[in-house]
Amino acid sequence: EDHFSENLPLKGKKVLITAGPTYEAIDPVRFIGNHSTGKMGYELAETAHRLGAEVTLVSGPTHLTIDEEKINLVRVTSTHDMYEAVGANFNNADVFIASAAVADYRPKTVANEKIKKTDDSLSLELTKTEDILASMGERKKHQKLIGFALETTNEVENARNKLKRKNLDFIVLNSLNDEGAGFRTDTNKVSIIYPDRKKDFELKPKKEVARDILNEIIELLNA
Ligand code: CTP
Ligand code: CA
Repeated sequence: EDHFSENLPLKGKKVLITAGPTYEAIDPVRFIGNHSTGKMGYELAETAHRLGAEVTLVSGPTHLTIDEEKINLVRVTSTHDMYEAVGANFNNADVFIASAAVADYRPKTVANEKIKKTDDSLSLELTKTEDILASMGERKKHQKLIGFALETTNEVENARNKLKRKNLDFIVLNSLNDEGAGFRTDTNKVSIIYPDRKKDFELKPKKEVARDILNEIIELLNA
């Protein structure tokens, strides 16, 4: 039998992944960001490579490192940069996994000089960023698209709406109710949501969550 392809179920597949936060500049020294560590995306990248895939990881600012001999790492800062990097790699990809915590808004203008502390209050006008995943959903041809969601109300319904709106194959819902799930932890409890069914997984290390998600993708690619 073909043990080789059995052990490398993603051999010949190109997997594109976003990870980490984005930083949206306010002025030369300040930005709007979030607490994403990028851990889930980096685990997905390493595991996809281990399963035989050719991996491109588009990463926002994080302290994490990865073996760049094995993984094509593209470092970006803003949502716009991430959008461009993903757009440039999308046509060639077989799978796109959007695990980045992308800013929804950015300052409408970036001050050229450091903003001085003058008035008692300061307002920043914000404008919507590009929705990277939704844009790829519109461009989608053969690609499998996977998104993440974290919802505080009507979790499954909201996640399923996102799945449809962004034209995804499935969406990974991060559970909020469990201790040790979400940002700044090494574990995650997720559900994988399809249009017509869902699978609930136990709380487990992000490395194992990555494997569960990639197993699901392998099933889709083989279907
Ligand atoms: N996403 C993206 N680009 C954005 C916003 C989100 O690619 N500008 C991706 C995320 O990486 C994630 C999915 O879309 O895989 C869902 O992100 P989420 O923040 O839950 O959804 P939004 O569409 O931003 O809706 P909201 O924040 O209002 O719930
Ligand atoms: Ca959002």
